[in-house]
Amino acid sequence: MIRVTGSGIHDGVHRHPLGAIRAYDRWLRDEFVAMNTVLEEHYFTRRADILPGHEDVRASLLRDGASLIAAITTLPDDPAERYALLGAVGYHAAACARHETGEPADLAPEWSLLRRLGTSLGVAPRYTFAHQALYNPAAGDAFWTFTSIPDERVFITRNGQAVLAYQRAAAALRRVPAMGVSNPVATYLLEDAVAALGDVLRFNRALAAELDPDRFYYCLRPYFKTHRVGRVEYRGTNAGDFAAINELDLLLGLCDPADPFYQEILAEKEPFLPPGDAATIQSAVRTEPLLSRFLREAADGVTPVLAENARLYLAACRAHGAAYAFHHGRLVTPFLVAKAPTAETDGVTASGPPLEAVVGMLARLSDLRAGRKKDGTAWEGLERLRELVG
Ligand code: HEM
Repeated sequence: MIRVTGSGIHDGVHRHPLGAIRAYDRWLRDEFVAMNTVLEEHYFTRRADILPGHEDVRASLLRDGASLIAAITTLPDDPAERYALLGAVGYHAAACARHETGEPADLAPEWSLLRRLGTSLGVAPRYTFAHQALYNPAAGDAFWTFTSIPDERVFITRNGQAVLAYQRAAAALRRVPAMGVSNPVATYLLEDAVAALGDVLRFNRALAAELDPDRFYYCLRPYFKTHRVGRVEYRGTNAGDFAAINELDLLLGLCDPADPFYQEILAEKEPFLPPGDAATIQSAVRTEPLLSRFLREAADGVTPVLAENARLYLAACRAHGAAYAFHHGRLVTPFLVAKAPTAETDGVTASGPPLEAVVGMLARLSDLRAGRKKDGTAWEGLERLRELVG
């Protein structure tokens, strides 16, 4: 449940200023899940995005959630609790958008709360993947979900594990520059980064094996879509809204912060990052990439530790490229592209542009991360280092 420790909790839930949050949290874990599941099973029988029917369920989902949210007037002091609350309220807003229920007048109080939370934290006023995976407090083995369809739990668990593995790799690599690339202590960090990026691939493989493509496409994806908060449309959520993957791109030297294509990737995701994440990208942008450090030092002679660390660095690059190639070929393609009615389809992806454009953007990222022999990739520098260290 949402922890409301900031101001102390009394037993009488409704008497406590934060009791309204607890009441909403309880509903979100129970009736909300049951109602979404009824609607999803109904749509799924016809493999439809949405169908008429169960109007009473749709009305209750809107009314009960909106009235519990309207009672939330006191916010937790702790920013992490406030961020979790933004996600919890955002779940209801996204579900109403998914089931196409609720007029602006019905949703105005909750949009106002979302804005208040978003502004206080400096983030977009909607739920994002970080809310699903990282700020989602479990109680009795269960975290917040939209439905009780097992694939949703698989999706969040495996994606969340992959994000943690990326974060572990980035945490290791960000310490290398201070030690220098020929430092034997840094060897351990590079080994850790290689192992963590191997875990990313492992979790992604498990996701591809355990997730049913139809369930993903028809019952989960629609909750991730773009929706309004007030008069502004906020783009949908995706598992990429965390900084560590970009920190890795920059630290490894596979992506260039001066490349306009990559600059847009960074700028676009910033409002959707959890608090604190943007600072790690800012720091990585200011750091000399490991590739250029290795090349600079190797030009003066390849010493044994430098050679060992460079081989580990190259292994980390290979693992990063392999994990992302898997994302492209074994997740995006079968779970999204193969299911979408036409390549021009709008509204299928999180960020809104036609699917074809999004897939092109992801393919370019895949080329950069794998250091393929193409214009503007790090291929040349990687090749030089491979020659130097054998
Ligand atoms: C069924 C599984 C998945 C599908 C269908 C999928 C699909 C997509 C799509 C379509 C986008 C582009 C979003 C947009 O701009 O509209 C995206 C972005 C992204 N996804 Fe996934 N994804 C899946 C799982 C994962 C997993 C497990 C990870 C690992 C953490 C991941 C990491 C990313 C990242 C980092 C981005 C942002 C772009 C980038 O910097 O690469 N995705 N994904």
